[in-house]
Amino acid sequence: MIFLLYIVVMTDVTRIKTPARAKEAVKIKAPIVEALKRAYENPTYQFHIPGHTKGNGTLPDFRKLVGKKALALDTTDEFDGLGTLHPATGPIKEAQELAAQAFGAKRTFFLLNGSTAGNLALAMGLTKKGQRILTNRNCHRSVLTGMIISGAEPVWLIPERFEEWGIWGNVTPESVEEQLRRNNDISMVWITNPTYEGVVSDIKSISAVCKKYNVPLIVDEAHACLWNFNKHLPTSALKLGADAVVHSLHKTGGSMSQSSMLHIAENSMLDVEAVEKALKLLHTTSPSIMLLASLDAARANLDSPRGRKQLSRAVENAKFLRREIDNMEHIHQLKPDFGYMTDITKVFIKADGLSGKRLESILEIDFNIEVESASDAGLLVLSNIGNSRNDIKYLVDCLYKIDKTNYSDICYLEKKKHMPMLTPVIKMSLQDSFYAPKERIEKTQAIGRIAAEVIAECPPGIAILLPGELITEEHLPYLQDYEYIEVIK
Ligand SMILES: Cc1ncc(COP(=O)(O)O)c(C=O)c1O
Repeated sequence: MIFLLYIVVMTDVTRIKTPARAKEAVKIKAPIVEALKRAYENPTYQFHIPGHTKGNGTLPDFRKLVGKKALALDTTDEFDGLGTLHPATGPIKEAQELAAQAFGAKRTFFLLNGSTAGNLALAMGLTKKGQRILTNRNCHRSVLTGMIISGAEPVWLIPERFEEWGIWGNVTPESVEEQLRRNNDISMVWITNPTYEGVVSDIKSISAVCKKYNVPLIVDEAHACLWNFNKHLPTSALKLGADAVVHSLHKTGGSMSQSSMLHIAENSMLDVEAVEKALKLLHTTSPSIMLLASLDAARANLDSPRGRKQLSRAVENAKFLRREIDNMEHIHQLKPDFGYMTDITKVFIKADGLSGKRLESILEIDFNIEVESASDAGLLVLSNIGNSRNDIKYLVDCLYKIDKTNYSDICYLEKKKHMPMLTPVIKMSLQDSFYAPKERIEKTQAIGRIAAEVIAECPPGIAILLPGELITEEHLPYLQDYEYIEVIK
């Protein structure tokens, strides 16, 4: 019976029809998905959380919207033979092991609360008060929140900036080596790769530098969980000598929002137990089995012929979009070979005479298209595994229409800055200033004061100001949405 269910689930996951491909499909297991299916097909009388009990105790309109089945499946670990997350047992443990195999890791932890939880756990488990961590200024705020928790301090790497496109470049091995040579108290290197817009750093060389100086390397690969599954994409840091890597499967890998993975590399020198303990403290004690199953399903899909086909299509769609944009007169794409290695599926677009925000609003209002994000300079389109060729053709058609129409900009949007590109002046430690007595003052009065809060606009969550940093006039264009700012008293 269990074997039969297993085959049914496999077929669902891969939608393989021919006998030859069916053989390959049998290899793709999804233990949490299978356990959840068994639980659904063998319902019990429930006297436990969640108290909506299969959706009966919620608003009928909501139940209708998301579907009765979704709510019947919504439960937490421990029940119905689904295993537990902390410690990992049963199908959850098995699913994490399969993910480790698929991504090429020694250990993989499933994360709720996104890669944010992974970064927090790495900082909390592996760094201590006063330790200095070399990281890029355009790191995600979760890396810094982790340091606020542990008391570690960032030493900044400031990557090159491309003002014309309003984006950051990569982190060079030379800049990492220079900092390690200058500061012999740096205890870890933590690099974001790729950047939000897909700019890739030379992790192999950075890892060699880290090994030379005997410091571990963590790579925040939140935007790159697909790389292991397509040879046209860059190589994952797990294969290039990093010690730990976080992946937001929910961003591009096909799992549900909030679900991510943290991988510890095969030859990692990190204290895995310390990371595991931190994860246990940081995680909810009622993990959503739906989110965990969606991670299991995403890995199984990516690792299947169907998933690989979807990913090849995403790459081909991105190439098609880029080719078509190259035929347009006033719309441009940041070419994948603009001087850096890039992830081809992330397409950065700009239009002559229009801010990225304005282009975004035209796409949204006139054409019902939503893109990943927009800045002064341009906007970011993701060619996803879930997008069809028709989706991309529609986008291309709309871009052609915009290219041929005389759209004008709107000044209030033009004046707002979205990408923080300032070199910080640090006056106090992150943790000390976060917990110091503070006051809220008007933004215009804040110049010359020391920030007491994390100001990082999402997406992509890169810091404009951090606790302990001097607020200068240069910050004001980035702070238009803020009337008041918290400063140190
Ligand atoms: C580089 C980077 N790391 C970590 C995160 C946090 O990821 P999550 O949203 O999965 O918590 C993000 C989110 O945008 C990010 O851009």
